[in-house]
Amino acid sequence: MLENKLIFFFISCFFKIDASEFFSKRCENNCIFTEEFLNSKTIKAFPSSCSTVCADIKIDQNTDLSEEQLTEAFKTMKVLYGTLQVSNTNYTSGKFFKSLEVMECEGIGGFTWSHNGEMTEMGLSNLITCFCDIEIYSNSKMIRLNMPKLKNFSSSNSTIRQVEMIISNLSPEFCITIQEMQVFISSKNLYMSRMPDKYCNFTTYFDSGVKHCFHNYTFKTLSLPSEYTPSNGLKTNNFKNLESDCDTICGVVLIEGGDEEMVHKLDKLQILYGMLLIRVTELTAVDFLSNLEYVASLEADQPAVYLKSNKNLNHIAIPRLKSN
Ligand SMILES: *[C@@H]1O[C@H](CO)[C@@H](O)[C@H](O)[C@H]1NC(C)=O
Ligand SMILES: *[C@@H]1O[C@H](CO)[C@@H](O)[C@H](O)[C@H]1NC(C)=O
Ligand SMILES: *[C@@H]1O[C@H](CO)[C@@H](O)[C@H](O)[C@H]1NC(C)=O
Ligand SMILES: *[C@@H]1O[C@H](CO)[C@@H](O)[C@H](O)[C@H]1NC(C)=O
Ligand SMILES: *[C@@H]1O[C@H](CO)[C@@H](O)[C@H](O)[C@H]1NC(C)=O
Repeated sequence: MLENKLIFFFISCFFKIDASEFFSKRCENNCIFTEEFLNSKTIKAFPSSCSTVCADIKIDQNTDLSEEQLTEAFKTMKVLYGTLQVSNTNYTSGKFFKSLEVMECEGIGGFTWSHNGEMTEMGLSNLITCFCDIEIYSNSKMIRLNMPKLKNFSSSNSTIRQVEMIISNLSPEFCITIQEMQVFISSKNLYMSRMPDKYCNFTTYFDSGVKHCFHNYTFKTLSLPSEYTPSNGLKTNNFKNLESDCDTICGVVLIEGGDEEMVHKLDKLQILYGMLLIRVTELTAVDFLSNLEYVASLEADQPAVYLKSNKNLNHIAIPRLKSN
């Protein structure tokens, strides 16, 4: 008996030292949760009055707790150091983490939401910082992220590590908003390794003087072949239908023969959420993209900017375009 106790003592001691350098530097002892799974038994040990919690939270098919019980447990938690995994559940969102503002992980992975068949959105509506690899996949009813405040992918420590983002295999209706994408592309240490295939629809709007245009053409609606052959004389009117003076455009912009006179519509364009194709034109110069900084295409295996059969073209200047 004594021997058993000693072994147990040794193991728990060892575990603490091993797993918790990261925790002990960041949390009060009474705010550290050491259980492996969250269920109706272990939740009693959850430090639900702490605003900063250190824990590896695992919620899965064995979690016999309602969304209300989870909401109650997490209601004061604003900062979480550790990991968070929510998988194989029937919860409809992650709204039970609505107090959470900052999440930081020590190593790779860390923020994983997968195989939650009833989840329609993430719903972590106050999450601002997530210094963890973000993996959201195989949630078949998820149609939106809905993490409107998420904008910081850095650590409180100055140590720089790239954070990877995977968003895949969600509902066929899932779309990413241009507001979300704007934040993602401007976050230097976020690497978007897998992204959904479409942007959400919207109607053109102004926001503090910035004109965001929705150009209702996708690669699919244009039904372009993978090789953009010279057009057969049938004009798509894609470019003619594009609004002028847009600061951002969401959609596929196609410039064809006959559109040459109108190219200065794009003079103000800074961000294109989509693709730019210039084919079979008489253009001699591409000098109308002087403000273009980013082309954020979601079309897999397609170039974001494509020029073909512009036989007079001898000058291309896109001076502000940033790679990555
Ligand atoms: C989710 O719902 C399905 C179907 O009702 C059920 O079989 C499964 O056990 C539920 N899973 C959990 C984790 O409650
Ligand atoms: C990002 O969040 C961390 C942790 O809260 C904070 O220390 C850092 O200052 C934030 N960075 C920016 C750019 O807001
Ligand atoms: C920040 O990073 C340094 C170097 O990795 C480490 O020594 C230090 O403990 C970290 N600080 C915190 C608060 O984690
Ligand atoms: C946008 O609208 C088009 C046409 O109505 C529709 O086919 C498409 O699925 C919509 N996209 C999204 C992401 O809702
Ligand atoms: C896009 O075009 C389709 C068909 O041309 C139309 O049904 C749909 O309402 C348009 N969507 C928007 C957001 O304008």
